Amino acid sequence: MEHYYSSEPKASHDINTIQYSIGEHTLEFTTDAGVFSKSRVDFGTSLMINSLPKLQGKILDLGCGYGPIGISVAFLNHDACVYMVDINKRAIDLAQTNIVKNNIENAKAFISDGFSNIDSKFNSIITNPPIRAGKKIIYRLFEQSRDYLQLGGSLYIVIQKKQGAPSAIKKLEEIFGNCNVLTKKKGYFILQSTKI
Ligand SMILES: C[S@@+](CC[C@H](N)C(=O)[O-])C[C@H]1O[C@@H](n2cnc3c(N)ncnc32)[C@H](O)[C@@H]1O
Repeated sequence: MEHYYSSEPKASHDINTIQYSIGEHTLEFTTDAGVFSKSRVDFGTSLMINSLPKLQGKILDLGCGYGPIGISVAFLNHDACVYMVDINKRAIDLAQTNIVKNNIENAKAFISDGFSNIDSKFNSIITNPPIRAGKKIIYRLFEQSRDYLQLGGSLYIVIQKKQGAPSAIKKLEEIFGNCNVLTKKKGYFILQSTKI
């Protein structure tokens, strides 16, 4: 079976429109086969969006999929400038469509394998990481995130207990010297580590 993190999914298209409420506002996302959580915004993704503090400056949505985190963050934080990246071309095409569809002017989406196409530092990095790619890859993304954060900036991660939240906490404490559990709900953890 094809992974949702293929760089060029071969799955036949199955274009859909889904809705996602933020307070009084409804965002609309075009989704497709071959991308993560195409039928609805994932529970962990939504928990992340609702757990984040007010953000400003340059923000990276690492592994953006069709864009629910980056677009919501851009919508909620008008002064922020949101970069959205994914290895999956189909996801990036959708994210670009969804940026335009929701009249978002402070976000852009582009292909990047991890940080390969990124040449600046961020105030916040947010990720629902590609767990299925394996620990080695996601731990490398955590380590690289520290390099791509400004001092005082934070990495925010959503991860389920059964997908290894306790060992991710240990790893983040090792890399950053700190890891704060922002939210815990239905086995999902929202973690924050700050570059100090
Ligand atoms: C769990 S999904 C989250 C998608 C989206 N942020 C959401 O919450 O719906 C992880 C995403 O990471 C992307 N991904 C996997 N490996 C990657 C890599 N090396 N660099 C960038 N993105 C990657 C996948 O294509 C996928 O879209």
